[in-house]
Amino acid sequence: MALTTLSRSIKGKVAIVTGAASGMGEATAKLFADEGARVAAIDINGEPLERVVGEIEAAGKPVRGWTLDLADGDAIESVFGEIAAHFGGIDILVNNAGISIPSPIDGEGYEAAWDLSLRVLLTAHTRTIRAALPHLRRAEHPRIVNIASTEGLGATKFGSPYTAAKTGVIGLTRSLAVELGSEGITVNCICPGPIRTGMTEAIPEEHKREFARRRVALKRYADPEEVAHGTLSLVLPASGYITGVTLPVDGGLTIRNA
Ligand code: NAI
Repeated sequence: MALTTLSRSIKGKVAIVTGAASGMGEATAKLFADEGARVAAIDINGEPLERVVGEIEAAGKPVRGWTLDLADGDAIESVFGEIAAHFGGIDILVNNAGISIPSPIDGEGYEAAWDLSLRVLLTAHTRTIRAALPHLRRAEHPRIVNIASTEGLGATKFGSPYTAAKTGVIGLTRSLAVELGSEGITVNCICPGPIRTGMTEAIPEEHKREFARRRVALKRYADPEEVAHGTLSLVLPASGYITGVTLPVDGGLTIRNA
């Protein structure tokens, strides 16, 4: 007898992944394509995006790339229209793109860092969700996953724009899960801990090792694929009763007291 009739497959689903040219976005786009999804890969950075799209295509999977600055609201609207027209709908949206600008509160560039951080890390999520919504409403198993951060649960010095935005992403997730629940649209959020990506590339290896040794239960940084698997688990058709959760994928960073 079959254990379940719920599907554990995203085969054929149309999945948008933002920030797909690097790190966790790249890993997510590749994993989703591997699982049979049709992937719309978005990034501001055209050249590395072409590389990622080329690699997925070379593996014989359906994918298309869109170069897009998520700080530009009008452009989001038109690109999402193109994606829906190209693939015939939208089933899954992963808001992953991000930037991190260290900013002391009394520093000269603070206002600019605040504006850009909020625009890319939080306002863009509301815009992509609004643009995807008419299409998600027609999907059989509509899913939204927002990538926040453990910086939305705790904080690191000089990170106030980033922490404020990521905390906002957690609140946005919770609020939209309640708002869209009656339509069967699930909205969840992942809080990655320390991950080896473009964003953490400049941190010297010995600092990474020392931080992981002191703070992370699993004693290491993670690879981006490990976060992508967390994201995949939240977009499966079978995960239809999981909504509004904040899932740390952090090796035990946030549960460690000593
Ligand atoms: P990454 O730097 O490797 O990738 C981020 C991607 O977002 C890049 O390809 C970049 O071009 C793209 N992007 C940036 N601004 C954009 C814009 N305005 N429009 C379109 N695309 C844009 O970084 P990573 O680590 O893979 O970041 C993915 C997400 O994970 C981000 O939201 C980040 O804040 C979050 N995160 C990262 C952690 C880490 O340890 N690396 C920890 C916790 C959260």
